[in-house]
Amino acid sequence: MLAVFNVDGEYYVTDDACTHGPGSLAEGDLCGDVVECNFHGGQFNIRTGEVVSPPCMLPVRTYPVIVEEGRVLIDAPERI
Ligand code: FES
Repeated sequence: MLAVFNVDGEYYVTDDACTHGPGSLAEGDLCGDVVECNFHGGQFNIRTGEVVSPPCMLPVRTYPVIVEEGRVLIDAPERI
């Protein structure tokens, strides 16, 4: 599953699953370009996937986004 974020009209897509545990980033809180996991409160930059705040240690995967005719498309080389 994926998490889709809209930051001031720009879309960003990451894996939904937190790299630390069972949290869902799609259900987390978004503040600017940082999402806070809904489980332990770890934070990721949704533009780069980098960890912003522990307990997360591993970055989350991000996907290039294209918006075409109002549809959000991602460039995913394999089945997700
Ligand atoms: S499961 Fe996301 S911070 Fe622990």
